[in-house]
Amino acid sequence: MNEKIIDGKMVSLKVEEELCQKISKLKDKLTLVVISVGDDPASKVYVRQKEKKAIKIGYNFLNLHYDKISETSLIREIKKLNKNAEITGIIVQLPLPSYLDKNKVLNTISPLKDVDGLTDSNLIKLVKKEETLVPCTPKGVMTLLDYYKIPFQGKRVVVVGRSELVGLPLFHLLLNKNATVTLCHSKTEDLKSYTKNADILIVAVGRKDLITPDMIKDNCIIIDVGINRVDNKLYGDVANECMEKASLMTPVPGGVGPMTVISLMENVYLAYEHSKCQNKG
Ligand SMILES: NC(=O)c1ccc[n+]([C@@H]2O[C@H](COP(=O)([O-])OP(=O)(O)OC[C@H]3O[C@@H](n4cnc5c(N)ncnc54)[C@H](OP(=O)(O)O)[C@@H]3O)[C@@H](O)[C@H]2O)c1
Repeated sequence: MNEKIIDGKMVSLKVEEELCQKISKLKDKLTLVVISVGDDPASKVYVRQKEKKAIKIGYNFLNLHYDKISETSLIREIKKLNKNAEITGIIVQLPLPSYLDKNKVLNTISPLKDVDGLTDSNLIKLVKKEETLVPCTPKGVMTLLDYYKIPFQGKRVVVVGRSELVGLPLFHLLLNKNATVTLCHSKTEDLKSYTKNADILIVAVGRKDLITPDMIKDNCIIIDVGINRVDNKLYGDVANECMEKASLMTPVPGGVGPMTVISLMENVYLAYEHSKCQNKG
């Protein structure tokens, strides 16, 4: 066993175990709906992964797939799901075909059922440090850091990538935990001058070997969110050789990936809990 590895697969199974215990005590059966449009091959794989995990955990799972659908009809379908008390969580699988307005579609989802945490309303709550449904990959990264008892307070954390799906929510989650966070992106000049000083380096770009050993400091902690498929093999954004210099690092695959799926399942449970509170209130 490599003691430097942050083992996302193992942690995700522990989270799953705890979640299953909570779910086994419920009288209601929770339902996750994934809406997909078009024929993106990667999306099909991701939807199947979600289905497999949801069923294993004991949720109902429904994939509403459309080869083509107008924006008006899609929005009407989402509104129906919002009103349906049987539905716990709703996801719109991204990417959507370009003829659909992603923001308009996502923001139609009721914030209470937004288990991907991508509605403006839930993102604003995150910025304001209010309790909310947090996007799944950033949530998974935070769970990993917590599990390995990695302290943030007073630490220099550098996040590379500022997407609304990963980098930006991570920036706020880490800031809310009192880390000193720097957010880098494609326009950052001299990326190395930032990564070299990071106690914790989180990379979410989608470019194999973006980070090389000369760009990191000794004993830093690295979370590699990137997924790059080359010749049918998966790679992260961080060169494997960085493992020698780092004190802890996530592998790809087996690092952040499994945490994303299980965090989604946690969000479905949280959405259920929130809806119960709303009904009582
Ligand atoms: N493991 C998982 O479960 C999981 C989940 C989601 C995503 N991912 C993976 O994580 C990666 C990022 O995903 P995403 O959705 O955030 O991608 P994205 O929306 O394409 O965002 C990529 C980010 O990287 C920045 N960037 C691009 N080139 C750069 C460079 N040379 N130096 C510094 N920053 C650069 C971009 O900057 P600008 O903003 O300036 O364009 C952007 O902010 C992808 O490989 C994706 O497959 C993995």
